[in-house]
Amino acid sequence: MKGLILSGGRGTRLRPLTYTSAKQLVPVANKPVLFYGIEALAEAGIRQIGIVVGETHAEIRAAVGDGSRWGVCVTYIQQDEPRGLAHAVLISEAFIGGEPFVMYLGDNLLNKGIVPFVQQFGHEHPAAQILLTPVPDPQMFGVAELKDGKVVRLVEKPQDPIGNLALVGVYMFGPEIFDSVKRITPSRRNELEITDAIQDLIDRGLTVTPHLVDGWWKDTGKLEDMLEANRLILETITRRIDGTVDAESRIEGKVIIEAGAVIEHSVVRGPVIIGAGARIRNAYVGPFTAIMNDVEIRDSEIEHSIVLEGSCVNDLGTRVADSLIGKNVKINRMPLKPSAYRFMLGDNSEVWIRW
Ligand code: G1P
Repeated sequence: MKGLILSGGRGTRLRPLTYTSAKQLVPVANKPVLFYGIEALAEAGIRQIGIVVGETHAEIRAAVGDGSRWGVCVTYIQQDEPRGLAHAVLISEAFIGGEPFVMYLGDNLLNKGIVPFVQQFGHEHPAAQILLTPVPDPQMFGVAELKDGKVVRLVEKPQDPIGNLALVGVYMFGPEIFDSVKRITPSRRNELEITDAIQDLIDRGLTVTPHLVDGWWKDTGKLEDMLEANRLILETITRRIDGTVDAESRIEGKVIIEAGAVIEHSVVRGPVIIGAGARIRNAYVGPFTAIMNDVEIRDSEIEHSIVLEGSCVNDLGTRVADSLIGKNVKINRMPLKPSAYRFMLGDNSEVWIRW
C-alpha cells in the first residue's frame, strides 16, 4: 500500500501568508500541518509516500526532504497547475503502480490518525473508501448520501442540501480509480473533482464504503480553522520547560518552552508553546498561543494566536488575540509624532483595530 499526499494548491484563503509560504507548511503548535499527515501515514505502516507539489515545491522539498526522518521514502510528483484532486491522482498513476493507496490532503489534520480507516479497507477491499464526519456547513465540502451503510451519491459543495456528512480529506482507493479520473470532466470551478471520480465508481457499479471519523478533524485552509487546530493540538501537549525562566516569571499549566528560549518578568499561561530562541520580556502570553523560533514579545500581551519565526510584538498598549502573524513581521509602538497608525502591509493583509 502506498500514500499520496496532496501539497499543491494556491492557499488563497490564507493570503497574504501563502504569497511567500505553502499553506501546508504553516505551523500548528509549532509543527507544519503537512508533518502531521506524514506522521499519520507512517503510523499506519505506509512507507512509500508520493507528495504532489505545485508552485511551492522547493519549499516543501526543503522542509520534508527524503522522508527518512519519519522512516518513510518520499517521491515528489510535480503538478503544473492546481487542476483538482482527481488531476493529482491522474498524474500519480506511475508512482502508485497498481497498488491500493491512501490519499491525504496536506492541509488536513485528524487527531486520532488513520489506522482503523486503513485496517477497514484491508478487510473489505472496496474500490474506494471515504472518511466522513457531520458538519454544520455541508455546502462548503463534498457531501455523501448513504443508504444501508453504502455510499449512493456524492456531491461537491452542494447548493441544495443532501445531508450533513462531509468528505474529510482522506481517501482510500484501489486501482479502479484511475479509469474514473480519466472519465470525468472539469467542474464549475474548472477542476477535476475527486468527488466526481468517486461518483463515477458508484455509477460503474463498484463499491464505495464509508468510514466515520473518530475524534476531531480540521481542514486548516482558513485563519479560524488554523487557530482552532492550534487550540486542539495545544490541549494535548505535556508540560516541558527546557528554556530559561527568570525568578520573576510565572509559567502556569501546560506549557512547552524549547531550549534556548528566554522568559523574563512575564506570565505564560498554558496551553502555550514557545520555540527556540524566542525572547519573552515583561509580557503576558495567554492560552492557545504558539510562538515560533526567534520571536520577540516585549511589553505586550498576546493570547489565542500563532506567531511565526523572527517576528516581534513590542510595547503594544492592547492585548493581541485571535491573530496569525507571519514571518519577520514587526509590530511596534511609534515613539515619534504624529501619533498615528503607520502600516506597511502586504497585499490582502487584514488589520483589526480595537473598538
Ligand atoms: C476538498 C474536496 C472536498 C472535501 C474537502 C476536505 O475541498 O473537494 O470534497 O470535503 O477538500 O477538506 P477544497 O478544500 O478543495 O475546497
